[in-house]
Amino acid sequence: MGLVTLLKRRIWEKGIWPFPVDVPPVIEDLNVCDAYRAWAPTYAAETATSFLDEELAQEMLGGLPQTRLLDAGCGIGRRIQDIPTAVGIDLSPEMLAQGDARNVVAGDIRKMPFKSNRFDMVWCRLVLGHLSDPLLAYREIFRVCMPGGYVFVTDFHPDAVAAGHRRTLTDGAGIVHGIEHYVHINHIQLAAEAGLDLIASRDGLVSPSIRDFYLRGIGLKAYERDIDLKLVAAFLFRKPDARGTALV
Ligand SMILES: C[S@@+](CC[C@H](N)C(=O)[O-])C[C@H]1O[C@@H](n2cnc3c(N)ncnc32)[C@H](O)[C@@H]1O
Repeated sequence: MGLVTLLKRRIWEKGIWPFPVDVPPVIEDLNVCDAYRAWAPTYAAETATSFLDEELAQEMLGGLPQTRLLDAGCGIGRRIQDIPTAVGIDLSPEMLAQGDARNVVAGDIRKMPFKSNRFDMVWCRLVLGHLSDPLLAYREIFRVCMPGGYVFVTDFHPDAVAAGHRRTLTDGAGIVHGIEHYVHINHIQLAAEAGLDLIASRDGLVSPSIRDFYLRGIGLKAYERDIDLKLVAAFLFRKPDARGTALV
């Protein structure tokens, strides 16, 4: 790899994730375990995508219960580290080891070590795009959510993929890798199949709130090109109450 390419990759990596297609080609796609093992030491730095995810959470979850909160696919646990009663689970022990969250366990969200009907709020943020079989996760989330409880799901938006953006990481040597990712255009249908009712859905767009990520990364031209592009999709679902009554 040439010096210029390496430098460009390092610059892009600092500012924004995902990257557009006109950056140098990624070296290889990593599976989820290898990808997050490599990313764990630097994952805490917010990206445009994670910033929009958090904005959507603030907007959509205000006032809802989270006394018994589960963060399914919690990563380093940064979203729950200040919520003492929250529980997290993640496939990557390396990601969990990088954070300060207390009640976290390594495991797969498609088969969780929790009793049924335990949580009044389940988050699954920027995780399901890594699964080829998200219905298994939706079913498991439904099981552990209590009747009347809420489920908040975010994913990398299909429009972003169509526009050429990818989920990537840059490893310690400055090499950009793609991360195993599946486009899901049917979250609402999958959730319904698992038994969840849709309460609300929103999109996180390229907009002034993430302009600085672009400026520090791929630049103003790319920002102007992408303005209004949907980068993150967010859904709020609810499990019907014990009598099966929809609570929407
Ligand atoms: C983009 S990170 C998001 C982390 C966290 N939700 C956040 O918003 O900061 C995706 C996380 O999903 C985890 N993950 C992927 N597939 C998983 C699975 N089947 N079970 C549990 N965690 C999984 C990865 O290990 C990674 O930590």
